[in-house]
Amino acid sequence: MQSYESDARMVSGVEAVSEADQPAEPAPGARKPWAKLRFRSWDISAPFYRWTYIDVAHQLDEDLFAYLGPRVQGAVVADCGCGPGVVTEKFLNHGAARVMAIDVNAGMLRQVEDRLAQAVANGQVTPVHQPVTAALFPNLSEQFLEGDGFDVVLFKRSLYVKREQARAILSAVMAQLNTGGVLAVVHGERSLRRYAFKDGWKPTRYTPYHLFNRLISKVSEKLRINQYTLYTQEELLTLLAEVALGHQVETIPSAQRAYNLAAVLA
Ligand SMILES: C[S@@+](CC[C@H](N)C(=O)[O-])C[C@H]1O[C@@H](n2cnc3c(N)ncnc32)[C@H](O)[C@@H]1O
Repeated sequence: MQSYESDARMVSGVEAVSEADQPAEPAPGARKPWAKLRFRSWDISAPFYRWTYIDVAHQLDEDLFAYLGPRVQGAVVADCGCGPGVVTEKFLNHGAARVMAIDVNAGMLRQVEDRLAQAVANGQVTPVHQPVTAALFPNLSEQFLEGDGFDVVLFKRSLYVKREQARAILSAVMAQLNTGGVLAVVHGERSLRRYAFKDGWKPTRYTPYHLFNRLISKVSEKLRINQYTLYTQEELLTLLAEVALGHQVETIPSAQRAYNLAAVLA
């Protein structure tokens, strides 16, 4: 397996990862030996991730795009933790002008490049091989948008860094959102009961899928090859309210109880 640093040279778009842009932990100075492993679990899932994109994931997208509505037309979008680019492609299909497809994992971004080769070639999609950090957003604005901001910034099942880091990242996003822009977060529910069951502890047809996902995620967190911070709906709304600068925070309607969908309207 290649190291994170060597992967960084293999993907087009923004590639160089400066020390200043690395996630805050571990700090300061010397990195702990396991720090390089922090995102390695995505290497394991990248080759088959697109096959696990089941109807739950598509339904979340439908709910998201129903909420965003005409805002996507002509929008400049950041798809943070874009994975293989399924949602990036949907942004294009819904009329987005430009999408920055950001992911820490080179294997995921290669899939974006394969899936959306034409859009990458014509500059509509920019693959960005970086961990999402607070510094990334002003850098992207300066490098690609002539200092302009984003209309839509999405974290769909990708905001797993520790809460304080997430707060710093989301604050940086808010600073780069255009007036009328939207920060949207789709994130797994922390309560296992709500995530994997209904009406108390009644199983659904997705219970085995959700339990398997959570088990894998928790194990990889224990092994320190992943971060996996989760929130209840209330905790997520509180986090967004803390960064919202007084802007409106709201839930995005969805029947998918396993996930919390929320947005800040700038
Ligand atoms: C569960 S997948 C979700 C992919 C896509 N957003 C979706 O919903 O299908 C999480 C993705 O986020 C990426 N990711 C996780 N943490 C990240 C970080 N801190 N910076 C950039 N990408 C990250 C992973 O590499 C992976 O591709």
